[in-house]
Amino acid sequence: MSFGTGKIWMNGSLVDWADAKIHIGSHVVHYGSAVFEGARCYDTPRGTACFRLDTHMTRLFDSAKIYRMEAPYSKADLHNAVLETIRSNQYKACYIRPIVYRGYHTLGVNPLPVPVDAAILLWEWGAYLGQDALVNGVDVCVSSWARAAANTFPTLAKTSANYANSTLIKMEAITEGYSEGIALDTGGYISEGSGQNLFLVRNNTVYTPPVTASILPGITRDSVLTLAKDLGFTVREEMLPREMLYIADEAFFVGTAVEITPIRSVDKIPIGNGRRGPITEALQQAFFDVINGRIEDSHGWLEYVYEGEPRQAAVAGARAARA
Ligand SMILES: Cc1ncc(COP(=O)(O)O)c(C=O)c1O
Repeated sequence: MSFGTGKIWMNGSLVDWADAKIHIGSHVVHYGSAVFEGARCYDTPRGTACFRLDTHMTRLFDSAKIYRMEAPYSKADLHNAVLETIRSNQYKACYIRPIVYRGYHTLGVNPLPVPVDAAILLWEWGAYLGQDALVNGVDVCVSSWARAAANTFPTLAKTSANYANSTLIKMEAITEGYSEGIALDTGGYISEGSGQNLFLVRNNTVYTPPVTASILPGITRDSVLTLAKDLGFTVREEMLPREMLYIADEAFFVGTAVEITPIRSVDKIPIGNGRRGPITEALQQAFFDVINGRIEDSHGWLEYVYEGEPRQAAVAGARAARA
């Protein structure tokens, strides 16, 4: 099934895609008052498995807390609703978009009296920047738009409002003939792409900007940091000046949508030899081996979706133990 088909979970009911509507007077339409997630489930040899759904749900509730949104559902409710929606749509692999938003009441800026609603959409979404990009990399630019300054739009919250900035970065990049833009923070340090985090490699050390560089704390970023340490690389989270991009041996984007996508040039300057580098490839291999169920899921990142799938009992047990 593709975008535009199947059932959507809305406030506890499964409704046809075409009927999943909200009123034009909803607060979220005017003020971007929503928090959301983007997760994936994969078709592995052992069954359909969500990647780090628990962690995505934690970030969703963190985002809601920052914006004083009291969701009418618990984290466990929404987590289970995601699994139920995948099952009802019979997806083997899909992108998962839970959203918690301010609905219909009044259109004053004050969101507090406005009810909080929730929905879960699913659709099939392949390689975000194209299959070819995963091997050959993408050409990107440094954006003229900066990420939001500290204490303006909180970037630790994945809120719809923040994506106004992302769309400016993306439109500028596309208009200039690039696949993506890399934004700096307001101090001029490297932040992230319009919808993905960034890593650099220099002299066999793996670098990524810290959470204080106006980034969304990505779950793929966290996974890649873990895998890089597992593989024995030195990993540094630190503020990086713009010019580190140009002298990096390797650079790559990470995120639920882009997974791990190499960057082959920045502002038309080739990164390294202008091809995917060996550390990028090693991390891609490690990441794809986990999400495709080719190696043991030693970090407990996969949660199987359908009854009777091999890990169902073990995962349910692990979740019960954590609760
Ligand atoms: C602005 C931004 N940064 C980073 C990411 C990567 O985060 P994750 O790996 O959790 O998908 C995303 C993806 O949602 C994003 O929109």
